[in-house]
Amino acid sequence: MNRNSNIALVGIAVAFLVLAAAFVFDLWGRTPATPPIPLVDKKFVDTSPSRVSIAEFLRKGGDPSDYECNICHEKNKPIKIKFDADNNIILPKEHLDIALSHGSHKRNNNCYNCHDEMNLELLQTRDGRQLKLVDSTPLCGSCHGPTYRDWEAGVHGRTSGFWDRGLGDYSRLGCASCHNPHSPKFPGREPAPGPHALHPIAKAPAHHESERTHE
Ligand code: HEC
Ligand code: HEC
Ligand code: HEC
Ligand code: HEC
Repeated sequence: MNRNSNIALVGIAVAFLVLAAAFVFDLWGRTPATPPIPLVDKKFVDTSPSRVSIAEFLRKGGDPSDYECNICHEKNKPIKIKFDADNNIILPKEHLDIALSHGSHKRNNNCYNCHDEMNLELLQTRDGRQLKLVDSTPLCGSCHGPTYRDWEAGVHGRTSGFWDRGLGDYSRLGCASCHNPHSPKFPGREPAPGPHALHPIAKAPAHHESERTHE
């Protein structure tokens, strides 16, 4: 090895030692610690459906006697529903937990649009099918054709499981796992917060007068 390259090697070694010292003694100062990112409220990441349908309640081991309507009701003896002057249903105290509000303009506020008046433990569709209380999705589908078609295609509601049916099964939430049949409208929901920026966000530049369109 010649003398020149020796000098070069020593020079490089010294340069690295100086750099190492600079890092060890923190000559440039450390970058400030990033402030801890607060976790998003659990309610925004909760994936459980918005309500527990009767079918889901029983599948989880709930007591079926809660839904034996004929403990109080008699089969084949239809109850005449009473309405007040404003066409609102007058509910007996046994059913005061029901707030019937299905559709605007009271379009669907008759219990017998859905329940079978001859046997309240059954549901009935417009075309005369009788369904169990746990099998309400086809009932909804009998009036909400387009939404039911979307649901069957996996566009409305929630489908989980395998995309490729050859690999495994899939499941789909019934309508009553999200909508309360008696008042199916969703209340407005609070939007989830936006993402956390990695760097401080620069202030948006002030708008030029001529860009203002809504004054
Ligand atoms: C604890 C007793 C009790 C049980 C259990 C019960 N009901 Fe009732 N229900 C009543 C009473 C009391 C009335 C009022 C009867 C009347 O006006 O003649 C009523 C009325 C009704 C009516 C008519 C609506 C109205 O305003 O009068 C419907 C529909 C109904 N019940 C459905 C059901 C269904 C479906 C179940 C089961 C999931 C059920 N009930 C379980 C006591 C009960
Ligand atoms: C007998 C027919 C009928 C059945 C059965 C029925 N619906 Fe409806 N539904 C209606 C009508 C009518 C409207 C009101 C449409 C309007 O106001 O324009 C409505 C409105 C709705 C709305 C819109 C929100 C609102 O209150 O306006 C939702 C959501 C809904 N239904 C869900 C369901 C679900 C879930 C089921 C099954 C548990 C169901 N429906 C069963 C007739 C029905
Ligand atoms: C749009 C259809 C529809 C209408 C109208 C309707 N129900 Fe129901 N009802 C259902 C369905 C579907 C279920 C099963 C819900 C579930 O799986 O969670 C149910 C469940 C019930 C239950 C048992 C569970 C509970 O929520 O307490 C009672 C009692 C009941 N309905 C009474 C009534 C009465 C009384 C009326 C009239 C004032 C009425 N329903 C109107 C569809 C309807
Ligand atoms: C995973 C939950 C979920 C399931 C399952 C579900 N829905 Fe919905 N549905 C929603 C939500 C969320 C909305 C939108 C509410 C809003 O925009 O305010 C909605 C809206 C609707 C509307 C209002 C009209 C519209 O299209 O905006 C109807 C009618 C309806 N659903 C019927 C049904 C029927 C019928 C079924 C079953 C075949 C069903 N839904 C299953 C969550 C669900």
